[in-house]
Formats: sequence, C-alpha cells, structure tokens
Amino acid sequence: MARFLVTGGAGYVGSHVVLALRERGDEVVVLDDLRQGHRAAVPVGVELVVANLADRRRVDEVFAGWRFDGVLHFAALSLVGESMREPMRYLAENLSNTANLAEAAVRAGCRRFVLSSTAALFGNPERMPIDETAGITPGSAYGESKFMAETALDWADRVHGLRSAALRYFNAAGADPQGRLGEDHQPETHLIPLAIDAALGLRDPLTVFGTDYPTPDGTCIRDYVHVTDLADAHLRVMDALETGPSVRYNVGNGLGHSVKQVIEAVERISGRPVPHSIGPRRAGDPAVLVASNEKLRRDTGWSPRYAGLDEIVRTAWAWRSAHPRGYDDRAAPALQDAPPPA
Ligand code: UFG
Repeated sequence: MARFLVTGGAGYVGSHVVLALRERGDEVVVLDDLRQGHRAAVPVGVELVVANLADRRRVDEVFAGWRFDGVLHFAALSLVGESMREPMRYLAENLSNTANLAEAAVRAGCRRFVLSSTAALFGNPERMPIDETAGITPGSAYGESKFMAETALDWADRVHGLRSAALRYFNAAGADPQGRLGEDHQPETHLIPLAIDAALGLRDPLTVFGTDYPTPDGTCIRDYVHVTDLADAHLRVMDALETGPSVRYNVGNGLGHSVKQVIEAVERISGRPVPHSIGPRRAGDPAVLVASNEKLRRDTGWSPRYAGLDEIVRTAWAWRSAHPRGYDDRAAPALQDAPPPA
C-alpha cells in the first residue's frame, strides 16, 4: 500500500483517479479548494483538505502531516476561453501553484510527481496523430501555462531529483462506468455534457462551432478518451516513476470523432434528438487533434478499455441522466468508499 496526495482530487479527472487509487488499496489525501471540485465526489474515508495551493504554509502542513509516496497534481485553472481573457492570471497561477507544490514535495522528501497536462500545448499541428516529438506551440494562455508547469518540473528534476510524468490529455470524457462519479463543471464548456444536457432539455440547444473546417463533414475532429482509462494511465505512470526517469506522454485513444458524430452518438444512446444550431467557429479551435498513444502503450502496457465513442457517451449519459443537477451537494448521496481489493 502506498499513500498519495491528489490536488484537485474533488474535480472531474482527479476524482476518477482517487477512486482508482482507492480501489487498488492505496491511501489518498485530497487537497482541493472546492472552487471547481465537489465535496460529494470525494469518497467517504478519504481525507479532504480544503485549501488553495497558493497557501504555502498550509501545503507544507499537509506534507508534515503525512508521508506521501507521490503527488498527483490536477488543481489548476483550465478554461481555454477564460485564459484568453485573463492570460496573466492563468500563467501566474498555474505556474506558481505547481512550483509551490513541487518545492513542498522536495522539502518533504517525496520523489514522484504526476502532472495533469494538455493537448493544448500543441496549438494547430500539421501532422496527425500527434506524438511526443511534435513541436510545442500553445494556442492559448492555458496551454502555455501547462507547458510552463512542465518546464518547472524539468528543473525540479535537474536540481532536486524530483521525478515527474506529464500526461497531455486530449479530450477527457465519460464517467465512472459504475455510475459513482461524473462530469460537473461550472460553467460547462465541453461538447459531450452540453449535448447530453440539450437532449435532456436541461439547457439551451447546442451550438455547433463551425461546419466549414477541412474535415469530411466540416466539423472539428477530436480524440475523446474515457476518464477511467485516463485514471489508469495515471496509476501506471506513477508506478513507473518508482524506478524510471521523468517522462511526458500524450494520452488519447488515437481515434478522431467529429462534432456531428458526437451529436449522433448522443442521439443513439439517449434515444432523443439533440436540439442544435450551426454557429460560427470558436476562436482558437484547431480542425483536428488526434493523439498517438504508442509511447504510453509501449512503456506502461496501457490500453484503453472504453475506446468506443458509444461506450464513452453511454457512461456520461448514465451519470448525467441520474444527476440532472450534477453533484448538488444537498441532493447527492454520499459516495461510499470503494471496497478494499480482495
Ligand atoms: N464544440 C461545439 N459546441 C460547443 C462546445 C464544443 O461545437 O458548445 C466543439 C468544439 O468546437 C470542439 C469540440 O466540440 O471542436 C470539442 O470541444 P470541447 O470544448 O469539448 O473540447 P476542446 O477540444 O476545445 O478542449 C479540450 C480540453 C481542453 C484542452 C483542449 C486541447 O477540454 O482542456 O482540448 O485542445 F485544452
């Protein structure tokens, strides 16, 4: 059994990682300021420290209270559009919080660090699929801030020997297949939850951002990867860091689906129409983003268990239709702790 600190562990991807760690019997402490995270997404039996990473004293106290085998860092500002309105806040906050956390880990003698990074590092690449040798040309301040966080971790390794892995996710999607966790952002900007909410009549009709892209049906193509498969990737890279060097991985299914195909999948799974209209392009959206996951597969043995778009949408639909108000903390039943492995 090991013990891990998960920042942002009450958020979407972080909570699925916490569940995966608990399911294999690891101990977890979550640090989350609950600006985006949800108390109801943290399992009973997992310590939740409500704090912001800018509070260095508090972060040091957390490291003084427990001995961690590794840190998984999800807590960050993560809205591409917002980052283009407030670039300095994104660059400063995401970098300094990562640096504070890495320094605290080093001071406490913790040697392994996994960073939640993003395909937004790659801007508008020419070559598909995108592997780890692709040039870094962030198209947003959000993408740049994650690259700065990766760079800070390179220095933490060179100077202090802190080993790290950065996982650059493509489009995280879906929900825990057992229905215990789901996606609940405020505001919600992601395609699959917006399409599901439109089908459920919970929101206005969806706007398709552009149908004049150089793709077969004119809409953007993305690589949707199931959040439970993402969680599995985090566990594997954390384990590999015990003996291996610092590393960066692109994480996706290696499959591209268009906005129209996603809408059709939601209609198929829900049995309802997705009311939508066609709008102009959204600034900064590249036409196609598809990952090469060869390196991750080769190094860690990872392979996606929920690679099909319908499987991804099915789990997202199941959670949202059961929780139309999301994790409304007053309404959501407390998540029971995962049983220890047999
Ligand atoms: N889309 C619409 N209408 C909407 C919302 C989205 O047509 O109302 C389209 C977008 O134009 C895009 C696709 O659906 O083509 C997916 O959009 P999302 O907002 O769900 O996801 P993005 O691909 O924009 O963003 C994801 C991650 C970001 C990350 C980025 C990297 O959510 O964190 O990939 O490019 F930075």
